[in-house]
Amino acid sequence: MPSATQLIRRDHKKVEGLFDKFEQTKKAEAKKRIADQVLQELEIHAKLEEEIFYPAVRKHLGEEDMLEEAKQEHEQAKKIMRELKKMQSEDEQLEETFSELVDCIKHHVEEEEGEMLPKVEESDMDLTEIGDEMLERKEELTAQMRATSTKSGAGRKPAKTARRRKSGRAA
Ligand SMILES: [Fe+2]
Ligand SMILES: [Fe+2]
Repeated sequence: MPSATQLIRRDHKKVEGLFDKFEQTKKAEAKKRIADQVLQELEIHAKLEEEIFYPAVRKHLGEEDMLEEAKQEHEQAKKIMRELKKMQSEDEQLEETFSELVDCIKHHVEEEEGEMLPKVEESDMDLTEIGDEMLERKEELTAQMRATSTKSGAGRKPAKTARRRKSGRAA
């Protein structure tokens, strides 16, 4: 089982791989599909960090300023993601907006991998336990997203019936 920080680094790599794929792809339709996949990966990744990882960091290390900055960067990314979500493959703004998202995420990943994750790894946080919790939640969110996207085509909304985590939010 991956530790929490392994899981996070792995997600980052996957998304960066999709950024390259988007870049190398010529067809607009294919680009849109890759963009959708990026949105889905990032939505899940952000939830895992916001619900489980960041609260655990706050609880064990404090680091309010670092976490506040991370949260703001998530909000910035989500704003761009909302715009992207509305776009169609023929939309002229798609590539430009996607590259805004790429810049935003690359910067954020640099901060996490350069500052937050090393601090966490030097601490005595139980990264195996947090990793288990994140992985379980990831499977749950992935299944939910699949169910919603097959049921209603494009429109995905978060399921309200998800069972509550025992140690999810607000530590
Ligand atoms: Fe991250
Ligand atoms: Fe993050």
